[in-house]
Amino acid sequence: MDFLVTPSRLRDAVITVPGDKSISHRAVMLGAVSRGRSEVRGFLNGDDCLATADAMRALGVEIRMPSATDVVIEGVGLHGLQPPAGDLDLGNSGTAMRLMAGLLAGQRFATTLRGDESLNGRPMGRIVTPLTRMGAAIETDCDGTPPLQIAGGLALRGIHYDMPVASAQVKSAVLLAGLYASGETSVSEPAVTRDHTERMLRSLDVTVASSASVVTLTGGQEPRGAVIEVPGDLSSATFLMLGTLLSQDADVLVKTVGVNPTRTGVIDILRGMGADIRLENARRFGDEPVADIRVRASRLRGAAFDPALVSLAIDEFPALFVAAAAAEGTTTFSGLAELRVKESDRIAALADGLRRLGISVAETADGATVHGGRFTGGEVDSSHDHRVAMALAMAGTVADGEVLIRDVDNVATSFPGFRECVAGIGADVRLA
Ligand code: S3P
Repeated sequence: MDFLVTPSRLRDAVITVPGDKSISHRAVMLGAVSRGRSEVRGFLNGDDCLATADAMRALGVEIRMPSATDVVIEGVGLHGLQPPAGDLDLGNSGTAMRLMAGLLAGQRFATTLRGDESLNGRPMGRIVTPLTRMGAAIETDCDGTPPLQIAGGLALRGIHYDMPVASAQVKSAVLLAGLYASGETSVSEPAVTRDHTERMLRSLDVTVASSASVVTLTGGQEPRGAVIEVPGDLSSATFLMLGTLLSQDADVLVKTVGVNPTRTGVIDILRGMGADIRLENARRFGDEPVADIRVRASRLRGAAFDPALVSLAIDEFPALFVAAAAAEGTTTFSGLAELRVKESDRIAALADGLRRLGISVAETADGATVHGGRFTGGEVDSSHDHRVAMALAMAGTVADGEVLIRDVDNVATSFPGFRECVAGIGADVRLA
């Protein structure tokens, strides 16, 4: 599928976005290995999280979906997973694969995890290294990519792991394996990363200690099933924030969005560029902070930002590159080497997309310098990447001509209904 975007103005609106992807994955995985039933409300009914649910079903867990966003999980307890009949296919989802590897490393049976073409090219050495130190045996392709063949029946022991890269997926994989390990498992991170795993474990009665940059848990603790309410995904809300900021006079309220401080780097970076973004009606869904986000059209200017914000905004750089391209002046992005191993090489994909829309971009090994300007019409490619597709779609709404975005099927991995959502508030985005 392709999107055809025609210049259009967003109207004032109150909207919601689908559930948080990171929290939805964790709800299904942790609910599955809990004692008793869990009920998940506001689940992200997108391809990535559905792949996780299917994988847990294949491991013998009963999972029902009484509605598109309600999930009931009959937890089997820490040691109740069953050997699957075949390989587990995790589609496009790096989160699913890396977290599942942690969960499966300490099972009594072997498993094989696979993904689609994009996932099969992503680095898995980052989880294999610590899990192997814990006593797991995991084979990858010779270049450290999936499929993952995880041996069964091995006893895991707790370790302390100093993560060389700031990655919530690696931290979570080690902590999940730590539930099955003897003694204490701890992880220290070089920069703060999203802490949904720690928060959800606590809400399921597992004791997790966090101090400065170290997270610790003791193995053998069995999570207890609970009701888990999933907030709207700030990463999805970001595209609506971006569209609103760029659209003349627009004023949009995105309701009930997760504003966990380990995720809100995008708000700080955009505010530093002059964005009018306010949080209203702050409240909590369990351990997760939630707010309504009011965004008003703003004159953006290029700005330098604190490198400590990178890991707090790691999924938002596609939108931030587009914001920089529409801003006055120049923005230099650096410290973004991780973007090269996301669903696509996002630095290359965005540099290419923005250049095709008339923006001057100089790519570096770990970032880019983006010179703000006006978008021309043109044809761009998503590089099979949902966030690249959505960011470029928002650029199209303020371009001088039509923008055709090729290959947008992957939008359904994180934001099913994106096109309908933005079209509902005035963005002329059609299927071409
Ligand atoms: C995620 C962590 C991040 C993020 C991904 C979701 C998670 O990945 O990019 O979309 O749910 O833990 P890394 O841990 O590789 O930075």
